Amino acid sequence: MKIAPSILNAPLDNLEKLLEELKDAYMIHLDVMDGVFVKNISFGKHFCEEIKRLSKLPLDIHLMVENPVDHLKDFLNLSPKFITVHIESNDVKKSIELIKKNGVGVGLAFNPETPIDQVKMFIKDVDLVLVMTVNPGFGGQKFIEKCLSKVDFLQLLKKENNFIVEVDGGVDDSNLNYCRDRGVDVSVVGSYLYKLKNKSEWLKANK
Ligand code: DX5
Ligand code: ZN
Repeated sequence: MKIAPSILNAPLDNLEKLLEELKDAYMIHLDVMDGVFVKNISFGKHFCEEIKRLSKLPLDIHLMVENPVDHLKDFLNLSPKFITVHIESNDVKKSIELIKKNGVGVGLAFNPETPIDQVKMFIKDVDLVLVMTVNPGFGGQKFIEKCLSKVDFLQLLKKENNFIVEVDGGVDDSNLNYCRDRGVDVSVVGSYLYKLKNKSEWLKANK
């Protein structure tokens, strides 16, 4: 299972040093929040551009915004590995088409209370399914274990479709192995990682 560090709760006093410590991760997870879809406002394209400039790792952009179509152009310009939109946001179909047309990996995210079977409508066009394991908006929340049943459902769909499964929120050493055993491909890790003394060693060990 691969690790995608989330920058949301990272110490930002020395971005260069931070990204050097994260260099053994699979990709960098960037949480864009508009203050409407979720209560919080995080950062936008300028910050993501800076991360791209300072890191060789692919970008994994998670849009927690009400109207993704209004913002996609800015993030498509960064040629990330994935852009993920929420199934609960507006114009999901149009957003997916736009991402795909630009040759970027399409991600589709599900809040903890949203039924996962809705993924079937879009499964042919999706490269990544993001299972939220906390309610979106903030880092540092507790992992909601029951969300892992969605991962089981996705394993069945994987037999006939080509996509990866990512979990996001509250991942730490106490649940990382459950995620791996259930077949999660990528875990987003935020707060837990930044509490560790040696982040790069942990990332190397979990490569
Ligand atoms: C929550 C974000 C997550 C979050 C993960 O809305 O999507 O990516 O930053 O951070 P932790 O690991 O602290 O839950
Ligand atoms: Zn996220």
